[in-house]
Formats: sequence, C-alpha cells, structure tokens
Amino acid sequence: MATSSEWHESYGQMSEETLNFSRALKSLQEELEAVDWYNQRVEVTKDEQLRRILAHNRDEEIEHAMMALEYLRRGNPVFDKHMRTYLFTEGDILGIEEKAEE
Ligand SMILES: [Fe+2]
Repeated sequence: MATSSEWHESYGQMSEETLNFSRALKSLQEELEAVDWYNQRVEVTKDEQLRRILAHNRDEEIEHAMMALEYLRRGNPVFDKHMRTYLFTEGDILGIEEKAEE
C-alpha cells in the first residue's frame, strides 16, 4: 500500500488509471535518476571490474526507463503524439517543433 506522502491528491479519489499513470511517471523518474548516478560512478571508478558492472547496470536502467516510457505512450495520447513527432528524427529539434505547429 502506498503511503500518503507519495500522492499529491487524495488517493481514494483517484482512478486506477491515474494511479497507474503516476506510478509509471515515478518509475521513469527513478530509472533516469539511476542512469545519471551510475553514469557518474562509471566515470570516476578506477577499478575496471567495478566500472564495467556499473556501466552494465546503467544500461539496464536505460532499458527499464524505456519500458516505462512505452507504457506511458500506450496509455496517454499526448505522450504518443509528441513521441511520434520528435523521436527517431534527424536535424534541428526546434525546427521539428516549428514544422509540427504549422
Ligand atoms: Fe531499473
């Protein structure tokens, strides 16, 4: 059971969809934070075996983050729309925004 400090609104008033959306966002946030922390450790760790383990763990966290992101995309049309606009593109990203808003 989630603690009340994890929610900004009354837990009982929110739908299962909203609760799951929040869980996925929080998971994505945590995975990305872990990517950052592992990446920093990789850069400064002198022990080669440990450095390789940390790099492996960082890359696993990237995979986990992408799973959460895909969950969000499937459940939210705005995520879907923007991901379709910006992901796997080339060139100037702000230029893509200008083009998309024409
Ligand atoms: Fe993870």
